[in-house]
Amino acid sequence: VQLYLPVLLGTTREGNRSSHVARYVAARAGERPGIESGVHDPAELPFGNLVKRVSKTDPLPRGVREFVSEMARADGFIVVTPEYNFGVPGALKNLLDHLVEEWVRKPFALVGVGGRSGGIRAIDNLRQVVTGLEAVVVPTSLSVHSVKRTFGEDGPTVDKEDLDARLERMLADLEWYARALRAARTLDPARP
Ligand SMILES: Cc1cc2nc3c(=O)[nH]c(=O)nc-3n(C[C@H](O)[C@H](O)[C@H](O)COP(=O)(O)O)c2cc1C
Repeated sequence: VQLYLPVLLGTTREGNRSSHVARYVAARAGERPGIESGVHDPAELPFGNLVKRVSKTDPLPRGVREFVSEMARADGFIVVTPEYNFGVPGALKNLLDHLVEEWVRKPFALVGVGGRSGGIRAIDNLRQVVTGLEAVVVPTSLSVHSVKRTFGEDGPTVDKEDLDARLERMLADLEWYARALRAARTLDPARP
């Protein structure tokens, strides 16, 4: 069965390095049999600071409508986010806050990007937020440390084998949960 596992980029910062990682992760995901992926960049989405959630907004601007239907058809998500001041960027939190049922009972794989910390605190911060979305975080996450030194526009520049091995493991984990949860949502769509 074909699975759609899009990447959500966590930042709108001009010249951000996380987008190199996001593109690389989406490309590796899309190479796996039966997987469709792609990057959604919050800078290209017309979301301002939250005024109303999309479910309460009528009519929805066209770009938002398209994004919402993409998230609705997704079987799971890969978030690639930098760590800003020990947490996730406001742009990512704001984006997640705009939607509700599109996230519910779907798996999230988390990729943190940072300097020495490798975005570990952004990953941990996001774990809590994803729980609030009534979604689940898969057990395997990926930390990209020293991104300025280790990643270029075309992918990893050092320790590529190690990164690829960790990435493939995370993607395999996400796929397993995406299939399992899709089957479970189909069997029993009710929410308590
Ligand atoms: C506002 C801001 C806050 C940051 N805070 C952290 C931080 O708490 N921990 C960290 O490891 N790096 C931090 N960084 C550095 C980022 O890790 C660095 O910019 C890296 O390139 C990834 O972010 P980027 O995708 O915006 O490029 C911060 C950068 C910015 C712009």
